[in-house]
Amino acid sequence: MLSARFSLRLLTSLAAMAALTACGGGGESAAEAPAATETAAAEAPAADAPAEETAPAEAPAVDVAAAEEPAPAAAEVTYASLTGDPAKGEKVFGQCRACHVAEEGVNRVGPSLWNVVGRPAGSIDGFKYSPANKNSGLVWTEEQLFTYLEAPQQTIKGTYMAFAGLKKPQDRADVIAYLKTRS
Ligand code: HEC
Repeated sequence: MLSARFSLRLLTSLAAMAALTACGGGGESAAEAPAATETAAAEAPAADAPAEETAPAEAPAVDVAAAEEPAPAAAEVTYASLTGDPAKGEKVFGQCRACHVAEEGVNRVGPSLWNVVGRPAGSIDGFKYSPANKNSGLVWTEEQLFTYLEAPQQTIKGTYMAFAGLKKPQDRADVIAYLKTRS
């Protein structure tokens, strides 16, 4: 407390001295300085108050806009609008390699992805699929893969594929382009 008060006083006197020095003397400017500070301090809360009142009213409006905007934007990215790059897709496939290879007849944690484009879901003999995948009735067309790979657990509820998905549409288009070369 004491030291705080002391430094405040020290600062005040330093400020007064600075004011005197800067303005070339004159008690008037030294007296003006605190007055100006007081006005600013008095105005500050007044300026804050309306801002705070406005903020809560505006916030939901902004939130709604933010929530509404990305949804249609995301839905607008169709597979048809993208061009997959197989070379980039091979790199994206690095995320699948923990569980899949794209060699014929080689199953790992996940089934072989050799020739997967166009094949019916759950059709690799000898791989223990989940009932959800096996009975999904899906065919792995390019469009179906594009949807599935964004969020596998949403497309096939109960899938054994423990993979969150590829959120970027371009990554999905690229990996599909790569898988098309593996047939
Ligand atoms: C953590 C392991 C894991 C990762 C990573 C993973 N998968 Fe899978 N995947 C699986 C498993 C397990 C299945 C079998 C799912 C079932 O039977 O429910 C599967 C199934 C699939 C199927 C369906 C195959 C069929 O014959 O029906 C496709 C297509 C597929 N994965 C593609 C991918 C791609 C592409 C990636 C990378 C972007 C990927 N997976 C990453 C484990 C994984």
